[in-house]
Amino acid sequence: MSKVASGKTTTPKAKLLDEFNASIMFDKELYEEDIDGSIAHVKMLQKQDIIDLDSKDKIIEGLNKIKDEIKSGKYDFRIEDEDIHMSIENRLTELIGSDAKKMHTARSRNDQVALDFRMYVLRKDREIINLLIELEKVLLEISKKHTKTLLPGMTHLQHAQPINFAYHMLAYMSMFKRDIERFQSSLERNSVSPIGCAALAGTPYNTDREYEAELLGFKKVSVNCLDTVSDRDFALEILFNISTLMMHISRLSEEIIIWSSSEFGFVELSDEYSTSSSIMPQKKNPDVPELLRGKTGRVYGNLISLLTVLKGLPLAYNKDMQEDKEGVFDSVKSAEISIRILTEALRGMKINSENMLKATKTGHLSATDLADYLTQNCGYAFRDAYKLTGKIVAYADSVQKDISELTLDELRVFESKIESDVLEKLNLENSMNARKSKGGTATCSTLKQIDYFEKWLKEG
Ligand code: ARG
Repeated sequence: MSKVASGKTTTPKAKLLDEFNASIMFDKELYEEDIDGSIAHVKMLQKQDIIDLDSKDKIIEGLNKIKDEIKSGKYDFRIEDEDIHMSIENRLTELIGSDAKKMHTARSRNDQVALDFRMYVLRKDREIINLLIELEKVLLEISKKHTKTLLPGMTHLQHAQPINFAYHMLAYMSMFKRDIERFQSSLERNSVSPIGCAALAGTPYNTDREYEAELLGFKKVSVNCLDTVSDRDFALEILFNISTLMMHISRLSEEIIIWSSSEFGFVELSDEYSTSSSIMPQKKNPDVPELLRGKTGRVYGNLISLLTVLKGLPLAYNKDMQEDKEGVFDSVKSAEISIRILTEALRGMKINSENMLKATKTGHLSATDLADYLTQNCGYAFRDAYKLTGKIVAYADSVQKDISELTLDELRVFESKIESDVLEKLNLENSMNARKSKGGTATCSTLKQIDYFEKWLKEG
């Protein structure tokens, strides 16, 4: 007989209902949190004289044994047990007998699942932060080597102004830093203990919620039990944080895909992290960044799913909420593997500085510098300078040159006030280095940004 029949009803439950109702096949992921939560709970019950010392010791010993059984793969997860909470309680009863039945005093599966799931999410926040720090270290290493590597900076995927490759990588470092900070602030905000809220209304027992919270490493105890057992904001937060992170990973992946095409040839993924075609022997495919880009979709889906599950629920717990876990587990797994593989793919990625430099020679990247020159040295209003520069660009195109390759004589045909110092301004490296404003691409400004990120990584 299914365990769901052990309360109000005695009719054995249909096998099909067991399958439909059960969450054990996925919430077994929470076994460690469930056991740690139960240990803290029985310690509190004993401290408050709600259960005796002997029962507490037996329960804790049994729970530790169960943890070992699960860790070593010897544990039998049965669909009839419904979920990880009942599964562990039933196994504990098999192991120690009737003392096991005292464990569920002054709590409910509603606060139990809220606790387990929250502890899991907090643990994953920490693990994801650590993985992201490793990714940041690799980006910093790449940046340090390429503060003078010119490439075309783009807008609308069109050549715009020359930048250096470190500067481009540091843009991604900035995004991932914000991601880390988002996980950190979620970690801080959600360190609130649900245990002891019981079903929805608190408990008549003389419990000590602060003590339980402290044992489990929470910073605070929740204020309102009705909210606590209904609240899945912490789960939504990790889903949103992962979605934003994956959006950043996806944008970088998209660039790597474009850059590794033969049209660009800016980077080459190592053989270890690329794949080949089953039919075209010459091909090296960027499956890694493509999968990273692709996985972003399911992660967004998980966020929208949970928002939708929660939107119409009356307080407090409703079984709909069992649908909260699989999406979170899936997003967490996707994020973890994605950060890991991106870190390794970047570590081994070859950067073709020569091709980047070659690409800067087309697209008149220093056109803005010419307009600025006309404004600053020849008395033009910027809009007029912009127009004249447009004409010069058209001329350069007609003689198949980049404006950085025009001679002084060619330029003076358009404006006789132009002097020889213009040539330095049109030089692409000088153009990049002219952008010294705070946060700009000039090598000196890029180096300051590198310092900033290095310090942040050191100081944490
Ligand atoms: N398996 C359930 C879940 O994941 C645990 C909570 C069940 N509580 C209840 N009153 N049925 O949501």
